[in-house]
Amino acid sequence: MAFSQENDSGLIREQIAGIPIAELVKQFGTPLYVYDAAIIRSRLAELRRFDVVRYAQKACSNLAVLDLLRREGALVDAVSAGEIHRALAAGYAPSGDPPPIVYTADIFDRDALDLVIARDIHVNCGSRDMIEQYGERVSGREITLRINPGFGHGHSRKTNTGGDLSKHGIWHSQLHDALVEAEHYGLGVTGIHMHIGSGTDLEHLAQVCTAMEKAALEAGRNVRSISAGGGLPVPYRPQDTRIDPAAYFELWNATRRRLEDAFGHAVRLEIEPGRYLVAEAGFLICEIRAVKKQGDNLFYLADAGFNNFARPILYGAYHPISLAPREPRLLRESVEAVVGGPLCESGDIFTQEEGGFVTKRRLPAAAVGDLLVIEIAGAYGFVMGSNYNSKPYAAEVLVTNGEPRLVRRRQTYEELIAWDVPPDPTG
Ligand code: LLP
Repeated sequence: MAFSQENDSGLIREQIAGIPIAELVKQFGTPLYVYDAAIIRSRLAELRRFDVVRYAQKACSNLAVLDLLRREGALVDAVSAGEIHRALAAGYAPSGDPPPIVYTADIFDRDALDLVIARDIHVNCGSRDMIEQYGERVSGREITLRINPGFGHGHSRKTNTGGDLSKHGIWHSQLHDALVEAEHYGLGVTGIHMHIGSGTDLEHLAQVCTAMEKAALEAGRNVRSISAGGGLPVPYRPQDTRIDPAAYFELWNATRRRLEDAFGHAVRLEIEPGRYLVAEAGFLICEIRAVKKQGDNLFYLADAGFNNFARPILYGAYHPISLAPREPRLLRESVEAVVGGPLCESGDIFTQEEGGFVTKRRLPAAAVGDLLVIEIAGAYGFVMGSNYNSKPYAAEVLVTNGEPRLVRRRQTYEELIAWDVPPDPTG
């Protein structure tokens, strides 16, 4: 397990998954994502009561993470042709019962449509156009429908995926029309799916059960599976409480049982978490390269920025930050610091609130060369990175049973420019 110690000068972390941070950095450099396989395994274990845990790989789609979850029995969700390719490369079979890979989206781009047809990937339709476009090409296949129940909730307005301001899902009152369309094309609707938002809470998630029961009854006896979607929150702040996965399961199990009674056959209960499985397993290590005083404010500027980790600038998301000092034994006084990155953009600050308000964080006094660890960074971390300011993508390491393994090497400068068509020297 990850080790950390609080001293009177703030949060100091010396190890990740039992490995000294200094050693990880010596071997792999910075910025570096490190994932602890033990934490991923234990989060998955908490959800095993559900018949299927379908990992929403958009949260962290490294092949090694997909492979780990596949070996542990999780199935997978894909939202693009690229994510289908990742799932296949990680060893998932294209089809089966239950489907190992489900394509869930609101549109088919042309690549995705061709791919789901060619590889017989199960499709979860989030729009009636998807039903039509799929039905025009194939017949006799089973589909599921993603229904927008008319309400939603997320940790940010940007992660709310329900209600009439959301583009997601088939609007609940159009379910009947969608069923008629599916029948017209000879597509069997065998399941209903709902996902109301990311980083929501138990209260809102519980309301989905009622909406699901209504929609599944309307879809009728062909329904053999229901999916509760993802959205399970994780405790980012010290005062946040962890949800009780057993209590959440019981809510859904009761819904499933009522549907089974109504239909007279078994109904598979799926859950589709991304964040819950990987957030706490991931750490972003970076090195402080400048310590500045701007008026009364102290800035620590590190070699990772929103090109590596975009959640603070996008959502004002809070992440714990700890220091891995070069000389661990030294007792440090505590200071209030703003933590930022290297990018040529004022918003490149990890300590900010929604709306771009810069905040300070109590941290140990630090110097150039000390390391910072941005914690709970495994979900929507690396995957939302970019090459902005022509910064290469970071490396990723997975630690399994005390062994760190490079699972994505750092992008090189040659690779960074490789897709540009070189200028014609004679032109
Ligand atoms: N299923 C569907 C259909 C989804 O759209 C999502 C997330 C999930 C499952 C997984 O949700 P989770 O269990 O991770 O909450 N970038 C944002 C999160 C965007 C989530 C998009 N959809 C963030 O960093 O908070």
